[in-house]
Amino acid sequence: MGQLTRFDLNPLVESFNLKNYVETGTGLGVSLCHAIQNKSFRHLYSIEIDEKLANSVSLHQNINSAQSNHQSVSIVNSNSLHGLRGLLQNKVDSSPTLFFLDAHFPGADFFDTSYGDSIDNNNTAGLPLLLELAEISNSRDGAKNDLIIIDDLFLFDSGEFAFDREHPESAESVRAVLRQRDMFLAGSFTAVLKLFFGPRRKFRRFYEHQGYMMIFPE
Ligand SMILES: C[S@@+](CC[C@H](N)C(=O)[O-])C[C@H]1O[C@@H](n2cnc3c(N)ncnc32)[C@H](O)[C@@H]1O
Repeated sequence: MGQLTRFDLNPLVESFNLKNYVETGTGLGVSLCHAIQNKSFRHLYSIEIDEKLANSVSLHQNINSAQSNHQSVSIVNSNSLHGLRGLLQNKVDSSPTLFFLDAHFPGADFFDTSYGDSIDNNNTAGLPLLLELAEISNSRDGAKNDLIIIDDLFLFDSGEFAFDREHPESAESVRAVLRQRDMFLAGSFTAVLKLFFGPRRKFRRFYEHQGYMMIFPE
């Protein structure tokens, strides 16, 4: 599990004039609270499928103590695709937005569902990244002004991620769950990104933790 704390947001917010923050997969809210520290974000939204996590008292206390008066912060208790669709149609304006995409394996990170069961029991909500990217691109005219950070790149792409070096058996066992179901894209991942965001769009991989991919504004 990586976190947005890997990134110093100030230079990114300044360079790309980012105003909104949208996250899929709130978890305990660590990345959301990191984003709230940057006061240029006026509207922050995080979508969490699990009701207990979305309504957790400590999450809401942490948000309240981090946010300032001019910031609005909302937790949306929903499947990320449904939540994104609603937010992008009704709430998030066209200002440059940071998307942090970190939703996967409901029940596996904070409860005791296995990765395999999580994938088998949740249909597309088990690994929603590709549908999230399609929704963002379609709703925002290719998301040309937006910065998108994908967490846990090792689930989608091959590479020498720190997680592979430090915990090779764990990394392989999660990938095996995807391979057994023909769900690991590996070398095709960037081709899929180009289909969604255009052949000239710039991407950068980060190899710390479980890996990150940054999709830069055009
Ligand atoms: C790795 S944790 C998120 C950690 C958090 N982003 C952070 O950095 O502090 C993944 C979260 O995604 C949630 N999740 C999984 N599938 C989801 C889906 N389809 N829609 C929304 N949330 C989902 C899980 O319940 C879990 O809380």
